[in-house]
Amino acid sequence: MKLLITGGCGFIGSNFIYYILDKYPNYKIINLDALTYAGNLENLKKIENNPRHEFIKGDIGDKKLANKLVKDIDIIVHFAAESHVDRSILNSSDFIKTNINGTHILLEAAKDNGRKRFHHISTDEVFGSLEPNEPAFSESTSYDPHSPYSASKASSDHLVRAYFHTYNLPITISNCSNNYGPYQFPEKLMPLFITNLMEGKKVPIYGDGKNIRDWLYVEDHCQAIDKIIHNGKIGETYCVGGNSEKTNLEITHEILKIMGKKEDEIEYINDRLGHDKRYAIDFSKIKRELGWQPKISFKEGIEKTVEWYKNNQSWWKDIKSGEYKNYYKKQYGK
Ligand code: NAD
Ligand code: TYD
Repeated sequence: MKLLITGGCGFIGSNFIYYILDKYPNYKIINLDALTYAGNLENLKKIENNPRHEFIKGDIGDKKLANKLVKDIDIIVHFAAESHVDRSILNSSDFIKTNINGTHILLEAAKDNGRKRFHHISTDEVFGSLEPNEPAFSESTSYDPHSPYSASKASSDHLVRAYFHTYNLPITISNCSNNYGPYQFPEKLMPLFITNLMEGKKVPIYGDGKNIRDWLYVEDHCQAIDKIIHNGKIGETYCVGGNSEKTNLEITHEILKIMGKKEDEIEYINDRLGHDKRYAIDFSKIKRELGWQPKISFKEGIEKTVEWYKNNQSWWKDIKSGEYKNYYKKQYGK
């Protein structure tokens, strides 16, 4: 089997490439990635000489390239996206370009080259925000995206479904909760807080820190995608959750505890614009139909994550000392 993985140099994509190459000795991967600020070939250093992985630097919005690559593969697993909510609040142009127009170009290529199997990675953020007492999001929850990021992902989900209904394109979609683990770009909550503490900086909590997210260890997510691409029902959506709802303050306290730091490392800052209160996922469909459930407990996952950032300081120090400094200054004012 030959997979076209888009966004394979990002956080989840690179974890997925390692997972697939390790589990399926006969599978080959073409990895199409534009190497935006979030893409990093260092993530794939361990397989730089592996003949079963071929990296192609390119944009999913390049029609000619997409058509050429799709011809020769069995399935597209589509991760490539602009993925950070705060950046979408600062400027959403690239979110529209990549997440909507880029996905559209890939769908066209899949349709025009033998109706290729297409799996689309999406987010629980397309469903909007929950109050603490409301039931978790599921496959039947109506879409109600609030940020430019989630609106662009919602648009792409609708396009993917439209290609199933209109052209019979064999698609599946997964909507997952917040991933964490190795190789996550240090702009997201967990890697930002862990690396800030290692640098002797404070951790910036938006608002009162009571917003809730569900946390999914990235390896569990890779296993869920594996199940869906092999056994998922065509045309269907699967919600993937980590069974770990936590407030941002709970996460922060856990990180402080593991790293032997004190509460006074916390700095409360202005809230994010339109900050969604709570995300939660009911993953009973994928559990019932495909036999998937998360295996890694939150305690184990967060300990492994802190350990990884401790052991890979040059990876994140390189990122933090580069172009990322400009974004940090814009976002946090220092
Ligand atoms: P990431 O930001 O770490 O990586 C994105 C990758 O896509 C990078 O390697 C980047 O270079 C590449 N890319 C961006 N624009 C591109 C383009 N136009 N052409 C080709 N490549 C391009 O993202 P991630 O956290 O790994 O997320 C992967 C997918 O999972 C995204 O679709 C995201 O919406 C979704 N998702 C992520 C999370 C999470 O917690 N990280 C949760 C739910 C869903
Ligand atoms: P993030 O990792 O950006 O993921 P998402 O917005 O996609 O859920 O943020 C997770 C939560 O942490 C969210 O409620 C916002 C909050 N947060 C902070 O409080 N401070 C920060 O510096 C960041 C990046 C996030």
